[in-house]
Amino acid sequence: MTISVTPINDAFVARMDGIDLRADHSAAVLDAIEGALDQFAVVILPAQHLSDDEQIEVSKGFGDLSYALNHGRSVGQNTRLRPELYDISNLDEKHGILGEADRRRQWREADKLWHTDRSFIDADTTYSFLSGRIVPPTGGNTDFVDMRRVYDDLPDAMKNRIADLTAVHSIWHSRALAGGVDFRPDEVATMPPVTQPLVRIHPRTGRRSLALASHVSEIVGMSLEAGRALLAELTAFALQPRYLHSHVWTEGDLVIWDNRCTMHRGTPFDDKAYRRDMRRTTVQGPSRYGAAA
Ligand code: OGA
Ligand code: MN
Repeated sequence: MTISVTPINDAFVARMDGIDLRADHSAAVLDAIEGALDQFAVVILPAQHLSDDEQIEVSKGFGDLSYALNHGRSVGQNTRLRPELYDISNLDEKHGILGEADRRRQWREADKLWHTDRSFIDADTTYSFLSGRIVPPTGGNTDFVDMRRVYDDLPDAMKNRIADLTAVHSIWHSRALAGGVDFRPDEVATMPPVTQPLVRIHPRTGRRSLALASHVSEIVGMSLEAGRALLAELTAFALQPRYLHSHVWTEGDLVIWDNRCTMHRGTPFDDKAYRRDMRRTTVQGPSRYGAAA
């Protein structure tokens, strides 16, 4: 089958057709996907309908998988799935809709803030693979921002100002922003803050992007107030509609994004009435292909 790449958002989102990952996830197919991810930053593969094992197998072709952190309910995550799969659902271990007071709701709330996956971990998180297993009838989109174009369009004075800055990333910051404060000190101690550069150079393409996320709490070397004012200014710039794309899910979609140059967020849906079952695998560390040609 011939593989085709069709831009959906000219700048950074493409749909790929002619791929059936259950039948063929050979190096040639993965290479085509990674090539599309270099050019675009988000790739939609419709009608993949992957099982858990298939999703894990395919994702591993792109590098080592990170395991769902602190897998288990102690920090609000779910034990419904294997640890290679991040449970991005509103379901409990019996596949029922989470109760109103369930602590796991609090954990997932922060997915609705703009973020990059795992930037609060001192590791190089590259690709996220999100498969839509059960999709609600309305709402529950996933929104993306192209942080390469955002960086490119910043005024030169701002580029110079931020060139050497680093930011503090902490998962507890985004959880607090999402209204969750119900985390114990022993849980908080498992994921201490890390610093990351504010401008990131993509190792495959050489393109720069602005590395923001709701995990970012402050700028190193600036007062809290001045750092947050700068972050607010940069975030407002990044969230202009021309840099955004909203993905409306169809069951069976596999959406792959590059965390090194995008931000994303989930959007609300009626999560007390409808099931939404999304499962994510996440690659950390260098690509098995290294730098693109
Ligand atoms: C994720 C995520 C948002 C969504 O899977 O990492 O942030 O739309 N998902 O569920
Ligand atoms: Mn995410």
